[in-house]
This record gives sequence, structure tokens and C-alpha cells, in this order.
Amino acid sequence: MKAVAEAPCKAIITGEHFVVHGAWALAAAVERRVRVEASEADEMAIESDGHRTNDSSKKRLAPVARVVTKISDELRFNPRVLIRITSRVPESSGLGSSAATMVAVASALTKLKGVELDASEISRYAMTGETAIHGRPSGIDVNVCATGGVILYKMGEEAKRVKFAGSRRFLIVQSGTKRSTRILIDRVSRMNVKYPGLFAGLANSASFISELAATRLVNGDMQELGRLLTYNHAVLSTVGASTPKLDRLVDLLLALGCYGAKLTGAGGGGSVFAIPREGSTDALIAELKLRGYESFQTNVPCEGVKSWLQ
Ligand code: MEV
Repeated sequence: MKAVAEAPCKAIITGEHFVVHGAWALAAAVERRVRVEASEADEMAIESDGHRTNDSSKKRLAPVARVVTKISDELRFNPRVLIRITSRVPESSGLGSSAATMVAVASALTKLKGVELDASEISRYAMTGETAIHGRPSGIDVNVCATGGVILYKMGEEAKRVKFAGSRRFLIVQSGTKRSTRILIDRVSRMNVKYPGLFAGLANSASFISELAATRLVNGDMQELGRLLTYNHAVLSTVGASTPKLDRLVDLLLALGCYGAKLTGAGGGGSVFAIPREGSTDALIAELKLRGYESFQTNVPCEGVKSWLQ
């Protein structure tokens, strides 16, 4: 018998980085999933992309081993399990591939052991692995991968579900540059040390933008939501999260008619999140491909982590 879990990845709609410093941010689950299978084994072993190891200190797999160990210790399980990971989420691209992985690991393992956890408990366990990778993440990524849908998130508070009828369409464009979330969090945090007054003002405005963006999303006012995204990109650029290449990509998407565009996640490369005009998405994806950019559309909301026995 094995347990299977699949977790969506995510996009931050507004407020990334400032959320690490106590601001509200808005995030959506994105329908590209990480799949994890958990089964009983003779020892703890982890297999990812076809590579298997029982060495839990291996850099890539150590965070997964941490999640398994934490859950096994707290819930008094035998940690001798095989965890097999298959992902459709590009790594280091701002789409939360590690968060989706950690959430799916926590969910598959507890399913295997017959324990039902709610999304906040799954997120708490997943954070053990996320912290090992990113240093001091806010927790927004694991929370939205676990709950699915759209959430307004602030550290230390319960996430607010943002609900609306129907769905909204977005475009995710990969810049083609990989980067480290840990380094970007440190870079932006240094701005907080250097200009605390300015940073506090920007963090306040990020909270305000995120709450406004949630209202625009609920009302389906995509044009206004687009303006907020583009504004948020400018702020993120000011604090060092963008790059000239990302700025050019945002400009290109606006020139191609998008209602708004911004970097999503830690920045420094990764992906851009944009709002295409109605009926323009296919042509936009084709045009971006001609210019060397991979992109895909995503409909929000989508379901959070799910697990089952097989
Ligand atoms: C990463 O998806 C979002 C950041 O704000 C980091 C975090 O909140 O953990 C850059």
C-alpha cells in the first residue's frame, strides 16, 4: 500500500518580501503539481527525478528528510519510509516548487500513517523543510499550497480565504533565470536595515495594495488589479528584488496589451505574473515563445493539496 499526495505550486499576486517583515500579501495556488508517493520501507529513503538516496544529509534531500523526521518524532511514527517525488513545477522559478514538495511530503506521509491533518498543521510541518532551504520564509508559500485557492496572508495571523464566483485567468512567464530565494530575502532585508523608515512605509503600502488587490480580484476588475500589480512591481524593483531583464519583461507584457505585470515570488529572475486582456492569451503565449519565453495560463482558484491511498 502507498499514499499519494499532490500539491499545487503558487504565485504571489502582491506583497512578497514585505510579508517577511509583517505585511499582508495576496497569493494564489497554481495548477501545476508536485506528486509525492509514500510507502513503508526498510530505511528512510528519498527518490527525486529517479535518483534515490538514503543519505539524509544530501543537500537537495535534507529538507525532505527534516519534514519526515519532524512528523515521525511528533506523531511517534516509524520514519522508515520511501518518499518518491515527481514534479511538474520548475525549480528556483518563483513558483514555490519547494513549498509544494514539502506540503505534499507532509500530506502523503500522514495519509500513509492514517492521520488526518488540516491545512494549517500540514503547513507547520512543511515549514520545517522550507526553513532549511530559504532561511526565514514567511510561510505564505506552504500555506497557499496547502489550502489552495487565494489567501490574504500575514505572519502570525490566520490566513484569510479570498472567495469569489467563477475563475480568473492569469499568465505566468518564465524569465529563464534561476535564483535563490534565500539570497533575495537577505538582499531585500538589508534595505530594511539601511532605510528603516522608508521600508516601513513601503511595507504598509504593500499591505494596503494586497487588501485592495483582493477586492479587485473578487469583483473581477482585472484592469484595476493589473494597475496594482504593475505598481507593486515598481516598489519591488526599488527594494532590489527585480533585475533589468525582469523589468524589460514586465514592459514587454504591458506593451503587448496586458492589464498589468510584475515579478512573482522572490524575484532576481524566476517568473513574471501578468493579467492578459480577455481573448488574448493564446496569441500572447505564441508571441512570447517567438521571443524565447516559456509561459502558461493559469485559472484561479485551484484546489489545494489532496491525498489518497492506493
Ligand atoms: C517567496 O515566494 C515570497 C517571499 O516573500 C519569501 C516569503 O514570503 O517566504 C520572497
